[in-house]
Amino acid sequence: MISLIETKDGSFSLKRSDLNESYHSEYGALSETKLVFIDYGFLYWCNNNPNANPNVLEIGFGSGLNAIATMKFNPAKVYYETIELYPVPVELIQKLNYGKLLSMEKEFETMHLSPWEETVEIDNTFSISKHHTAAQNYDFGNERFDVVYLDAFSPDNEPELWTIDFFKKIYQSCRANAVLTTYCCKGIVKRALKEAGFQIEKLPGPEGKREVLRAIKRI
Ligand SMILES: C[S@@+](CC[C@H](N)C(=O)[O-])C[C@H]1O[C@@H](n2cnc3c(N)ncnc32)[C@H](O)[C@@H]1O
Repeated sequence: MISLIETKDGSFSLKRSDLNESYHSEYGALSETKLVFIDYGFLYWCNNNPNANPNVLEIGFGSGLNAIATMKFNPAKVYYETIELYPVPVELIQKLNYGKLLSMEKEFETMHLSPWEETVEIDNTFSISKHHTAAQNYDFGNERFDVVYLDAFSPDNEPELWTIDFFKKIYQSCRANAVLTTYCCKGIVKRALKEAGFQIEKLPGPEGKREVLRAIKRI
């Protein structure tokens, strides 16, 4: 049901054959993550908040690419909370080349071996808390996060993760001026994010994608 694929920039990704959906852009998994989540989301927030330490929320841990890339490019001290309903089997994780490409092999392994539902310090600048549950049922809490990676499967396959109600829960869990990014620029997603309270902007996408989205909780 989940298979390994190679994307155009040489980084691997995974594909769910039942949904006919890959975990990342087939034009480049690492290139997409670096632009959409790291540059437009994480580093954008860090540059606007020098000397502050962000709490990051991710919808869809999957291969762990966003998490290891955040650790790689991290200029601060990060707490990373991530939700995943269908953990990827370890045999597939071992075939992914992210650790090697980012020179983070040990950290990538430790991150994946760390137990679910616990906060684990991967090093003294990065702790992770992985939750094995459905994101739509998760209690995100109030005013906890500064950066959000909205990286669920597409609205066609996972409509419940792109609704106004779901985005309202995320909005409530964000602190002032939190930054959310996503690869998905569909009209229904833009409208739902606005309706939930976010201010949105379209940004140029990575190869193969015209636009992506950044949403900000402006207070
Ligand atoms: C587009 S993939 C991206 C994964 C990840 N960010 C990565 O870099 O590999 C979407 C992820 O969301 C997960 N997912 C699907 N439905 C979910 C749900 N209801 N709650 C939480 N995670 C879900 C999938 O299993 C998959 O790992």
